[in-house]
Amino acid sequence: MKIKSICCLGAGYVGGPTMAMIAAKCPDIQVTVADMNEKRVAAWNSDDLPVYEPGLDAVVASARGRNLHFTTDIRNSIAAADLIFVSVGTPTKSYGIGAGRAADLKYIESAARLIAEVSEGHKIIVEKSTIPVKTASAIRTIISANSSNKATFEVLSNPEFLAEGTAISDLENPDRILIGGDNTPSGQEALEALVSVYANWVPRERIITTNLWSSELSKLVANAFLAQRISSINSISALCEATGADVDEVARAIGTDSRIGPKFLKASVGFGGSCFQKDILNLVYLCESFGLPHVSEYWRQVVHLNDWQKSRFVEKIVRTLFNTVNGKRIAALGFAFKKDTNDTRESAAIQVCRDLLHEHAVVALYDPQVEPEAIHQDLRNAGVPQALLDSNLEIHNDPYAATEKAHAMVVLTEWDEFKTLDLGRIHDQMLKPAFVFDGRAVLPSSALKAHGFDAFVIGRGQ
Ligand code: UDX
Ligand code: UDX
Repeated sequence: MKIKSICCLGAGYVGGPTMAMIAAKCPDIQVTVADMNEKRVAAWNSDDLPVYEPGLDAVVASARGRNLHFTTDIRNSIAAADLIFVSVGTPTKSYGIGAGRAADLKYIESAARLIAEVSEGHKIIVEKSTIPVKTASAIRTIISANSSNKATFEVLSNPEFLAEGTAISDLENPDRILIGGDNTPSGQEALEALVSVYANWVPRERIITTNLWSSELSKLVANAFLAQRISSINSISALCEATGADVDEVARAIGTDSRIGPKFLKASVGFGGSCFQKDILNLVYLCESFGLPHVSEYWRQVVHLNDWQKSRFVEKIVRTLFNTVNGKRIAALGFAFKKDTNDTRESAAIQVCRDLLHEHAVVALYDPQVEPEAIHQDLRNAGVPQALLDSNLEIHNDPYAATEKAHAMVVLTEWDEFKTLDLGRIHDQMLKPAFVFDGRAVLPSSALKAHGFDAFVIGRGQ
């Protein structure tokens, strides 16, 4: 079976870039990305894409209008496709059974019902969203119960491993592509059809095929292992601060052991992003459901440590500023959950700014990519009252305006431009003593020292 037409439900951070890359690499396949959000679709069709991702503009420009289309016409897109990626959101449930841990699958379920309703002939359905293990069988049950006799379906799992900020190079040159399918002749045929799509640019040996459940579970486990490394190094950051060791030196020393490896050992104010916390909580819930409390407790600690890392950073700020930040101007640099993205989901900055606002600090924020409206929205959702936002939150267009007459400067995202700030100028315009709290260990320590800052850097002992 040769795929000629692909549709993707969900034009988000994953669906948009992934489909743009498939379209760019497979000019013979028509790729349509369908989303119910009209504003988002209009943005994908404009020069101002809704996702900030280095290199994405060029990939979209190379294929849009040729074999890459963005639309709100979900029904016709499904009807015309041989293969349908499902890339709608799967947020953590905020209510009812499994609240705070389980994934809310309502969007996946409505996508499955719609696919059943409008499909004729044979369709391959591919789970791209991260979902709890065994979602494929739920999708299959919903579809077979709702489709007409004429339609046939195969369900595959093909989790996405791209990281935001490096999505384009991750997509272009992935470590691996993982595809799970049923061990039946038609399951294997569907699996081979998707393998052939990726084989247009990914070497065959990097395309791993497994059964459905292994593929679904691998995505959760990959993210849990990555997040676990960050919580591990963050736990050591606290010990370094207490002992006079330097966590970057420790990370370098242990990372040269090829069994450990150098990546994902950067201490920080805490990991964020749409996946890590959500996927670990999902894993925790899964283990609970299967009667494995020891396993679920083990993974839950990764999230606990991350929450503790964020709160101890705020406590450090408040304690250092003579136990009160009430009315003090605190410049917060960075709001995105990592550099090179405008995404703020689960960003450590949300919790830090929320806590500082609750302490009645004046937070003067600067981020090079995040829209002011997104910042307001995130802080409102985090429980900061509108009146407090109106009176105590300032959003600036440059870091120098944010740091003017500030008591402290706090670094929350590792944007490259923060590494080359004019620290002399900033020190001159801040109140004295001029405090710096670097939650990402990005500011050059020699320059901080030379300019006379009173500096706390995450993981660095005094
Ligand atoms: C993806 C995956 O879907 C998620 O499971 C994974 O854990 C993270 O990556 P992402 O692309 O980042 O999510 O999500 P988001 O940017 O929220 O995009 C989802 C899109 O689906 C939104 O544009 C939303 O409008 C759209 N959507 C959602 C639909 O079109 N229909 C729906 O029923 C629900
Ligand atoms: C992650 C996974 O890397 C990716 O494979 C998966 O598909 C989605 O989830 P993403 O959330 O985009 O990607 O970003 P990632 O680079 O993994 O960073 C996550 C968070 O961890 C960020 O807040 C980042 O700042 C933090 N981090 C990362 C650290 O604090 N230290 C590190 O050493 C690495």
